[in-house]
Amino acid sequence: MTAEIVSVIRGSSNIEADKENKPPMSIAPNSPKKGLQAQAKGKGPKTPPRQSTSNRRKSNIITPSNSVLNASEKKRNDDDQVRGSEARRSLNLVSRSESESTETTQSTVESTSLSVVVEDLKEVTEDLKEITISKPETPKKKGAFGRTATNTISINPNVRKVYHLVNKQTGSVGGNGHGGAIYGELTIGSMQKMVELMKEHTGLNSESRFIDVGCGLGKPSIHVAQDPGVAFSYGIEMEKVRWVLGIANMHQILRAAKKEEVAPPKSAIAHKCYLSHGDMTDADYFDPFTHVYMFDIGFPPVLFAKLSDMWNRSKSEFMICYHGPRLMIDRYEFNLELLHQAPTSMHGSSEGHMGYIYRRTESSEKEELCANKHYGERCDPLFEEAWTRANDDLDVLSEHISELVELHLNTGRSTRRTRSKPKRLADEYEA
Ligand SMILES: C[S@@+](CC[C@H](N)C(=O)[O-])C[C@H]1O[C@@H](n2cnc3c(N)ncnc32)[C@H](O)[C@@H]1O
Repeated sequence: MTAEIVSVIRGSSNIEADKENKPPMSIAPNSPKKGLQAQAKGKGPKTPPRQSTSNRRKSNIITPSNSVLNASEKKRNDDDQVRGSEARRSLNLVSRSESESTETTQSTVESTSLSVVVEDLKEVTEDLKEITISKPETPKKKGAFGRTATNTISINPNVRKVYHLVNKQTGSVGGNGHGGAIYGELTIGSMQKMVELMKEHTGLNSESRFIDVGCGLGKPSIHVAQDPGVAFSYGIEMEKVRWVLGIANMHQILRAAKKEEVAPPKSAIAHKCYLSHGDMTDADYFDPFTHVYMFDIGFPPVLFAKLSDMWNRSKSEFMICYHGPRLMIDRYEFNLELLHQAPTSMHGSSEGHMGYIYRRTESSEKEELCANKHYGERCDPLFEEAWTRANDDLDVLSEHISELVELHLNTGRSTRRTRSKPKRLADEYEA
C-alpha cells in the first residue's frame, strides 16, 4: 500500500489561439457561463468588448500511482489519435517526462493493490473527462459545441424541414452534394449557433436583410429565412452549377411550403428568400443588407480587397465571417470592430473555423453612399430584382423558380441512373 505519489502538473496548455482561425484552447467563447443558454435570456443585441484570444487553463495537481500513470498514458495516447488535441498532447508530454523521472519506483508500484489502482484510475478518468469537456468543440466530437451548448441549442421545426429537403435534393455534404467537389459549409448545429449569436449580438430579426456572399447551395440564406425569418434573405453565387443546385433546393422548399398552405403548421416554411447567379463584385455596395455573411475561407486576397472597398462605402451594419481582426481590420482595412467570436464545425472535413461577428465602425461621406433606392432603402441595383422577387407571393415566387429549374435542369434526360442525383443534375446542366 505504498503507492508512490507523483504529482503531475497538467492543464498547463497556455497555447495562444491563432488569432485568425484556430480556436483558443479554453472554454472562453462557449463556456457554460457565457454560453447560449445564458445569452438567450438577454434582450436585444449585446455588444461585448473585444475578446482576448489568449486564455490560459489553470494548473491542477492530481496524484495517481505510477501504474495508473502508465494506464492513463496509454489512454491519453489513444485519445490523442482520435482527437488530435493540443491540450491532450501537452498533458501527454508532461506525463511522459514524469514517468521517466520515476523509473526507479516501478518495483514498488507492482505491489499496489487492485482496489487502489481502480480508485486511482477513476480519478484519472475523471480528470481526462474534464480536459475533454473544457476544450472547444472538436470535429470528431458527437455534439457540435461541447456538452453544455449541445443541450441548450434548439433548432426550429421549419429549419429542420428545409434542411431535410435540401439534403434529400443535393446531399448532406456541401459542394455539389454527393459525388461532387466538397466545399466549405457549416453543420446545421453550427449554423444555428451562429444564427443565435447574430440574434443576440446584432439583433438579427424579422426586419433584417441578410446576404450570403458566395451562397453555394444556399443553406445559410435558407436557414435565416426560417429562423428568425428575416425580411429578405439573399444569396449570390458565381459558380453556375452550385447556383443551379441552390435553386433546385429552393424549388423543393417552395413546393413543400405550398403544400403546407392548406393547413399551415405552427412552424411553417417561410419563403422570403432568393438566390442569384452572379459575381458579388459586380455590385458597388452591400446595401440594402443589414447583415453581410460570408463563409470566406479560401476567398482570394483580391476579392477581400474589393469587398473591403465595397463595405467601406456601404451602410450595412454587421458582418459575419470566418477571418479574425488581424486579416479583416489590420490587413484589408474593413471599417469593423469585433463583437463576438465562436468556434464552429464544418461538413465534409474535419476542419473547424472560428466565426467572427463584427459591427461597422465608420460610415462613408454622404456623397459616397449608394444613391439608388428600393422600397425606400439604399439598394445596389444588382439586388433590386431579387428583393422584389423575395417579396412576391408564394405562388408567384414558386412559379418563377419552377421556370428557372425547368430552364436550367430539365433540358435533357440522362439514361444513366447509377449516378447520384446532384451529379446527374450537374451533368444535365452542362450538356
Ligand atoms: C465556401 S463556399 C460557402 C457556401 C455557403 N456560403 C455556405 O456557407 O454554405 C464559398 C462560395 O463562394 C463562392 N464565391 C467566391 N467568390 C465569389 C464572388 N465573387 N461572387 C459570388 N460567389 C463567390 C464560391 O463559388 C463558393 O461556392
